[in-house]
Amino acid sequence: MLRVMIIGCGAIAPAHVEGYLKFPGMCRITALANRSISRADELNSRYGLGAKTVSDYRDALGNVDIVSICTPPREHASIALDAIDAGCHALIEKPMATSLDECDAIIASSKKENRVVSVVAQSRFISGIRNAISVARSGRFGRVLYARANSVWYRGGSYYDLSWRGRWEVEGGGCTLNHSIHHIDLLLWLKGLPKSVISVLANLSHDNSEEEDFSSSILTYCDGSVAEITSSLVSHGEPQCLSFQMERGGIAIPFAAHASATRDNGFPYPDETRRREIEAAFAELPTLTHENHDGQIANFLAAINGDEGLIADASDGRNCIELITGIYKSGVGHSSVTLPIDCGDEFYGNRWRASAPHFNEKKNDVAHFDDMTITDFKGKF
Ligand SMILES: NC(=O)c1ccc[n+]([C@@H]2O[C@H](COP(=O)([O-])OP(=O)(O)OC[C@H]3O[C@@H](n4cnc5c(N)ncnc54)[C@H](O)[C@@H]3O)[C@@H](O)[C@H]2O)c1
Repeated sequence: MLRVMIIGCGAIAPAHVEGYLKFPGMCRITALANRSISRADELNSRYGLGAKTVSDYRDALGNVDIVSICTPPREHASIALDAIDAGCHALIEKPMATSLDECDAIIASSKKENRVVSVVAQSRFISGIRNAISVARSGRFGRVLYARANSVWYRGGSYYDLSWRGRWEVEGGGCTLNHSIHHIDLLLWLKGLPKSVISVLANLSHDNSEEEDFSSSILTYCDGSVAEITSSLVSHGEPQCLSFQMERGGIAIPFAAHASATRDNGFPYPDETRRREIEAAFAELPTLTHENHDGQIANFLAAINGDEGLIADASDGRNCIELITGIYKSGVGHSSVTLPIDCGDEFYGNRWRASAPHFNEKKNDVAHFDDMTITDFKGKF
């Protein structure tokens, strides 16, 4: 029986608790850690866990096999390294860390200690998303020529009142690092890293944040294909979409299929037969028994037991940080950036954040909100 500690008992922690509770034959939550212990106590009693609660996670590391790291981003790496050092496997909330040097340290340590590290990418565990990506990946409708991620969200100004948000050196970045990472991970899952990126960063309406609430990027791949990523926190109704234009049809998430044929003069008309083929290829794929965090936790536990390979591993988490670092480097420097970012680059570590341009100075701070309701991909696909 694998013993689990959740570290950080805030808004996302219940998704982890509920995930582990789905697999009572494999694991048990035996510890909860939160800086202010009252939040750990509250989570403990809400789910009737009977777990040990601690304010310093290090006090319980020796008695658990798994940690779920649900703290603000800046602390992910140091906690992961402590946990691996203590012999634990780690499920790290996104983003894996705030810099590439931290990601590399986690990867090196997990290899040395032979521990399983997974980085939360729960959208990989949503049937509609996974199956649309499988269709695009199959090559059946040709190469992906152009991909577009509209990672557009809406957050009101008070979102940045939470003390760890809105600061480059604590949150690590704005909507590109903390929201669009979901779509960026999916894009990378299909297409891998581009060879270059050019980006614009802006803060359109969040005056309590140093960071961007908007970014727009164009990615160029070695095979000549391109992708665009729009990240936004000012988009009413959050009309998110990830779309892939293949040589012989288009597929999008939320699911849509399109196919055009051309007249002699090059103008298009709908190719209904091809569109139905894309729909059929999507519909014939299986749906997952467990979705979102539950699905990722199922895979993480199975990987620890040696029954499955990890679907979202540390190198996937690192790839997200590589591309997002490229986006920030390009936006800050107003120039195109070539990937990979090597270890001699000033953007490889966190140092650049100390002199990152501040769109605004942060004025308001609250330790936590009473209302912990959050929204994620659930229900969107
Ligand atoms: N996968 C998703 O869809 C999703 C959604 C929301 C948040 N997140 C991620 O989850 C993480 C946490 O976000 P949140 O919204 O739950 O934040 P939160 O502020 O609600 O909760 C974080 C908690 O961690 C505690 N904490 C901070 N440092 C700690 C430490 N060293 N030891 C123990 N406890 C510590 C804080 O006291 C707080 O209770 C972030 O990385 C965020 O990006 C992921």
